[in-house]
Amino acid sequence: MAFIMNEIAPFKIRDIEINPPLVLSPMAGVTDISFRRLLKQRGGIGLTVSEFISVEGLTRNNPKSKRQMRFYENERPFAVQIFGAQPARMRMAAEMAEEVGADILDVNCGCPAPKVVKHGGGSGLLKDHPRLEEILTEIKKAITIPMTVKIRAGFYDHTINAIETAKLAEACGAQHIALHGRTAVVESIERDYEDVVHVAVLVDDDPGKDLGALRQPGHRFFFGLDDLERVEPAEELL
Ligand SMILES: Cc1cc2nc3c(=O)[nH]c(=O)nc-3n(C[C@H](O)[C@H](O)[C@H](O)COP(=O)(O)O)c2cc1C
Repeated sequence: MAFIMNEIAPFKIRDIEINPPLVLSPMAGVTDISFRRLLKQRGGIGLTVSEFISVEGLTRNNPKSKRQMRFYENERPFAVQIFGAQPARMRMAAEMAEEVGADILDVNCGCPAPKVVKHGGGSGLLKDHPRLEEILTEIKKAITIPMTVKIRAGFYDHTINAIETAKLAEACGAQHIALHGRTAVVESIERDYEDVVHVAVLVDDDPGKDLGALRQPGHRFFFGLDDLERVEPAEELL
């Protein structure tokens, strides 16, 4: 881990410095306020992220959802991650995150849970770009804090569309895109690592696509956020 910290420079999400350049992956049932506090005390985390929070719960004042937005001041910078599929509720929830003082609003486009996907949320948004576009446009209009997006390589192994999703998110004003380098539905366990590499090669090898913007300051790809040994091969390929 130490060599990675030396290799990768601190970066910014708009004007927010992420230093050290390590993001704590959002993990439902894990990255709650107590867990994040322990890690912060230990040091080494540049950005903490909440568990994913249901906009259906938040916008109906569900106590559990509201509790999930709590954070300690010394956690900053802190991102709230929301999931859902209804643009109006996504917008309202984003406003609520800004109101409670979150530094960054992150949109979940990666959750593979059937109960989330069947309503069109999480990784379901990878299959419905018009809906994703509407959601991101609505959110962007409503908040002043940076909007970030966490995506997967694609929904199925045969529908890898991380580049298209990333470009769409960027066009809607996303300031940072995190890529979970797997598909939502893993059709073969052997494909896992190949998928990570495949997306990296696609970025590098496809001059027909205007990917320059994705490499500008404020836009950055991560491969397997919590799986550090994978960062190196992916960075090399880029
Ligand atoms: C228990 C658990 C809960 C997770 N919850 C979320 C979540 O709420 N939001 C999210 O974007 N990703 C979530 N993830 C995905 C992680 O943030 C991360 O992208 C992933 O674990 C990295 O790759 P891998 O676990 O597939 O190797 C979760 C992962 C785990 C293991």
